[in-house]
Amino acid sequence: MHCKSLTVKDCTIQVNVFIAPLAGYTNLPTRLFFRDQGAGIAYTEMVSAMGLHYNPGKTSRILVSSDNDRPLGIQMFGPDPDHIESAFLKIHDQDFDVIDLNCGCPVRKIIKSKGGAWLLQDPDNIHNILKRLTGLTDKPVTVKIRSGFSSDTVNYLEVLDAAVTAGASLITFHPRTRNQFFTGCADWDQIARLKEASPIPVVGNGDIFTGEDAVRMITHTKCDGVMLARGVIENPFLVEEVVAALQREEYTPPGLKRRVACVCNHLNDLVELYGEKRGVLEFRKYFRGYLKGYKNVSSLRSAVNRFETLDETLRVIREWSDSYPPEDFT
Ligand SMILES: Cc1cc2nc3c(=O)[nH]c(=O)nc-3n(C[C@H](O)[C@H](O)[C@H](O)COP(=O)(O)O)c2cc1C
Repeated sequence: MHCKSLTVKDCTIQVNVFIAPLAGYTNLPTRLFFRDQGAGIAYTEMVSAMGLHYNPGKTSRILVSSDNDRPLGIQMFGPDPDHIESAFLKIHDQDFDVIDLNCGCPVRKIIKSKGGAWLLQDPDNIHNILKRLTGLTDKPVTVKIRSGFSSDTVNYLEVLDAAVTAGASLITFHPRTRNQFFTGCADWDQIARLKEASPIPVVGNGDIFTGEDAVRMITHTKCDGVMLARGVIENPFLVEEVVAALQREEYTPPGLKRRVACVCNHLNDLVELYGEKRGVLEFRKYFRGYLKGYKNVSSLRSAVNRFETLDETLRVIREWSDSYPPEDFT
């Protein structure tokens, strides 16, 4: 059986399907939508330890959560154990279950700040940061890595060792180097090698776009769980497809009626979280995935990208769906 629960320290993750930290995407309403589909755990987008240290108010919007948003992982990035400690102390009394260190972000701005995948070049520092965190909390401390900084410095096994000896409880692995960004294919053989070497659970990440991809990754690598990222942006219903595939259940993608209901709920929830102006703008990022492939959707997309109010956006979606013959609207 590919679908299983995982326990890391006191945190039980009922289903081994993880929602990745996704900057600009994994806010509260979006996490809740993925949880409704059966995700076992979701992470906030990465938060800057420096940001939390110097300007916690600005960063705190990212950390908005609710009672039904559990188990929740908070992900931090930054190169300095002191800042990480101070940032952790600013959030430690919030409700969350797992604290994760980002050692994979390839983006230039983060690399310049010596965070994200920059850290892969210094496994001793990864060890020091994780050790600091494990000394501060009984909650599971986890780490998310890439294979190495460049093809000449592939060092994920060394980074695993640094994490394990620091007391990390779980490792998530996206097997591309920093310099690859998202090019080429994720090298799942590397996940298999990491899993073989690892005394802690390994979550595989990279290039899961269908339920069958998730089954193939677990079969090929024996990893303990899968983490979904770009796949859930392209197809907001990927989580339920993956859960069904791991349970070896048949899956039928949602029809138009449910898609329209979900898209309207998502829009309303984003507006509730961010206010009307920003909520409607944020919504545009998600919209494409919901109705991909339906006819006349490009004109609807242009309208959604033009309107700035909740009412107008909901109205244009309703008008579009009303134009479908009732027999197709199921
Ligand atoms: C828009 C976007 C935002 C991301 N933000 C984060 C982040 O905040 N923290 C992180 O660890 N990884 C982040 N990632 C990387 C993903 O979590 C994941 O590791 C990567 O996309 C590979 O998985 P995939 O092939 O399933 O997309 C981001 C990726 C994308 C596309």
